[in-house]
Amino acid sequence: MCGIIGYIGNSDATPVLIDGLKKLEYRGYDSSGVGVIDSTKDRIIVRKSSGKISNLENLIRTKPVGKSSIGISHTRWATHGAPTTVNAHPHLDGSGKIVIVHNGIIENYETLKTALKKQGHTFKSDTDTEIVSHLIEKYYKGNLRAAVGRAVRDLEGAFALGVISTHEPDKLIAARIGSPLIIGLGKKENFIASDVPAILDKTRKIIYLKDGEMAEITKDKVDVFNFAGKKVNAKVHTITFNIDAVKKQGYPHFMMKEMHEQADVIQKMIKARIGKTGIALDGIGLTQKQLSSFKKIIILACGTAYHAGMVGKYVIEKLAKIPVSVDAASEFRYRDPIVDRKTLVIAISQSGETADTLAGVREAKRRGARVITICNVVGSSIVRESDGVLYTHAGPEISVASTKAYTAQIAMLYLLAFKLAGPAKKEIKKLISEFKKVPALYKDILKNKAEIARVAKKNSHFGCFLFLGRNVNYPSALEGALKLKEISYIPAEGYAAGEMKHGPIALIDEYRAVVCVAVKSDVYEKMISNIQEIRARKGKIIAIATKGDKEIDKHVNYVIHVPKTSDLLTPLVVALPLQLFAYYVAVKLGCDVDQPRNLAKSVTVE
Ligand code: G6P
Repeated sequence: MCGIIGYIGNSDATPVLIDGLKKLEYRGYDSSGVGVIDSTKDRIIVRKSSGKISNLENLIRTKPVGKSSIGISHTRWATHGAPTTVNAHPHLDGSGKIVIVHNGIIENYETLKTALKKQGHTFKSDTDTEIVSHLIEKYYKGNLRAAVGRAVRDLEGAFALGVISTHEPDKLIAARIGSPLIIGLGKKENFIASDVPAILDKTRKIIYLKDGEMAEITKDKVDVFNFAGKKVNAKVHTITFNIDAVKKQGYPHFMMKEMHEQADVIQKMIKARIGKTGIALDGIGLTQKQLSSFKKIIILACGTAYHAGMVGKYVIEKLAKIPVSVDAASEFRYRDPIVDRKTLVIAISQSGETADTLAGVREAKRRGARVITICNVVGSSIVRESDGVLYTHAGPEISVASTKAYTAQIAMLYLLAFKLAGPAKKEIKKLISEFKKVPALYKDILKNKAEIARVAKKNSHFGCFLFLGRNVNYPSALEGALKLKEISYIPAEGYAAGEMKHGPIALIDEYRAVVCVAVKSDVYEKMISNIQEIRARKGKIIAIATKGDKEIDKHVNYVIHVPKTSDLLTPLVVALPLQLFAYYVAVKLGCDVDQPRNLAKSVTVE
């Protein structure tokens, strides 16, 4: 949540900062700002604007900041204080000599603010962040790193900080607890950023700052310390993924590009994980015997990853006969869960930074569980705190609405279920061979995307949608509804089709549209009965049905066909048309598909 980028070097800082901010805009986009030290090295210039980064660019065009070789910048997802210009980052201290950007939440900011006010500090914004610049001002005694190191000791909560000051104009200070921050190492220039894509076109040499670490950065040197001031040996990583992965490559939106990438993601996973001798889940850190010894599994996740976890429950219970419960991570830690050493906890997170999931992982570990994580981002916070990891390797997901990360998470859960069940069993072997066909099925579905677009456009005027599914496709209905509401802002509810009669049926009339996941399976007939109930009440029905199913045409208004696969694998296949449906509705309504209002890609606050 919120994106930070900082620069120190020989180039002009502002274009580097703006360019980097644009690549971090997925982390929040309700306001943004830059702070640079001007060429006299005596003055900090700040420009801030509410709204998207394009507003900030326009502002800088009309009110230039001049050339500068050091600066920090920020794109915000508001927590404390409305998304106004005054609350946008960077925030200056009282003297105007120190300026900071912050990602995270300072939980004890009110106490600190009251104390600082008593000491004569005055504040301009409603943010928690501003107190940090004033704390650094208070502790500054001729050494900026020491002042930041002292200030962070007063803070409770999560933060990634970037700090510059005219006191020491050739230094950039970074610090972190709980929110991600990386340092990019260039030639005669260095960077800080919330995420790799922001600086990938500048350098591939990265230091991941760890919790409790800070860095003193000049254009020639990076020194990492712990908060006690002791120097730390930081590992330099080389990023291998291609820069094209963070570009649209001709697609109109990242979401469209990422939907198209799903076939390759699953194909790569198949190649890497399914061998002649079984399923390779390297990274999990458990032998087959240990894996089979768990008495229950708890899955922890948020948002789309939570829906992937729900699919995992159906699949693991069916194939491996181990009880699985799925918890919204934000609920898990406060509900006194029954967890012990015989419990395997699986955290699922695209970013590996979601604060609720991270807190759930900590709670599970505290209670003695073994924790593994299914994650997309290498080296992320949740991964670092887990006992084992299964990387989905879906590549950077930029669109706020998750697509390829979701299907990759589900795919990984299938592999885990195959492993738990015993891949040598006949039934599992058959499923594995069907699973290997999924990438080809995605390609088939994409060939039909014009038809999905037509159905979506025809139905984009409805003010309310219901999504229904049964059994393993109940989570598909939840995810279909989430996708639509996230990017089109149309109220959409996902329901288990059998539950419709217990409430949602009251919504149905000729002004409602109902998307029914009605693929051929054990529960197909039941789904048809639910469809009849909707029809009897004049609801408009869009069915996701199996290719070749002619019967369904009689009952529904529109059909989106998907290729046939095993019943249990259908969530993987229906995910794509549901994503495409949401996408085309949002495009038709003129919505900002990749950056829907109020959302952020990675939510690092509770
Ligand atoms: C945010 C995103 C969702 C995502 C959720 C969990 O709310 O907007 O798309 O599903 O966080 O994110 P994670 O990175 O933990 O999968």
